Amino acid sequence: MHVAESSPKLTFRLARLDDAAAICEVHKSHVFNWYRIVDSEQFDVEYDHLSVEDRWGFGGPWMSPETCAIHLNNLLLMRHLPYVAELGGRIVAEMELFIGREGEPYGRNCHIGLLYVHKDFTGKGTGISLIRHAREVARERGCESLTVSAMPHNEAFYLKCGFSYGHRLVQLNAPVRRYMVETSALQPPLSKQSFTWGMDLTIGRLQSSAYHLFELSDSYALPAFASVDKRTSFLSVSGHPSMITWTSGSIEEATVYAWSSGASARDLAAAAMKLLEPAGIRNANLLLTRDDYESLSGEIDAALVGTRATLIYPL
Ligand SMILES: CC(C)(COP(=O)(O)OP(=O)(O)OC[C@H]1O[C@@H](n2cnc3c(N)ncnc32)[C@H](O)[C@@H]1OP(=O)(O)O)[C@@H](O)C(=O)NCCC(=O)NCCS
Repeated sequence: MHVAESSPKLTFRLARLDDAAAICEVHKSHVFNWYRIVDSEQFDVEYDHLSVEDRWGFGGPWMSPETCAIHLNNLLLMRHLPYVAELGGRIVAEMELFIGREGEPYGRNCHIGLLYVHKDFTGKGTGISLIRHAREVARERGCESLTVSAMPHNEAFYLKCGFSYGHRLVQLNAPVRRYMVETSALQPPLSKQSFTWGMDLTIGRLQSSAYHLFELSDSYALPAFASVDKRTSFLSVSGHPSMITWTSGSIEEATVYAWSSGASARDLAAAAMKLLEPAGIRNANLLLTRDDYESLSGEIDAALVGTRATLIYPL
């Protein structure tokens, strides 16, 4: 008698620390060529002969089991939600979800910080199944919105999954100057998470508030990060409690993140400059919604360097 074999079913579960190597394989599958650049010249180098730091350059902590394990550990300890999709016992995709509470229109929000399907398993419905799973998780956890900030070439995938365009974002590069704004220092709170809970992330919201708070607290024992400065100030900006964080690898520029309970983008940008100037930073990277950018014009001198979009799925 012939017994038909059923094809294995895709299943989802939270990732564990010992999944690091398999998750790393998912991410590595999208790299076509491993190389090292020496004196502006590119040399092909086998993966095993690259340092952990070299590998990072191909896509971040997921590129080596060592750094992927630190990343996973941090996610799990901070109660974020890294999921793996398995097919017949093999990990074929990874998705990271970040749940938090933000200002309007997001409310209680679930953000897809990352979605990667192993190259050999793309085009088979794996990605769309993970998005369905993200929707279930978000609803179970009482979220009002599911969001993602896709690379432009992947936006069509998310639109096909039912997302629509939310905020259009503009990336600005602004020379650090003195602008008028009223600020005063606040006592540091017990945690950045509790201070910013429900606040607008007015500057720097490429991903979600929960995602950026995680990223800003992440640290890796790699020499390349030793010189990266990350500083946070708690202050009242035009009478509104606010938190401004900036990260910088050199005096040339810093990337600004600003949370506030009501200060305008203009006042937050001006307050950020007040913090950057004494540190000798020359330029500020500011990411704003298009509406905030328009309200800024004529107020803050800045050059537009790029655009991005937030995609949103209302729940
Ligand atoms: C983008 C990605 C997640 C899609 O996953 P996938 O498993 O290949 O997608 P699915 O097979 O579930 O595709 C679902 C639908 O979206 C379409 N689609 C998939 N990727 C697409 C893309 N980049 N652009 C447009 N449409 C896309 C498929 O054609 C399919 O449409 P159909 O139902 O009409 O046939 C996957 O290709 C991937 O991991 N890419 C590399 C990593 C990456 O860029 N991740 C996203 C970071 S924001």
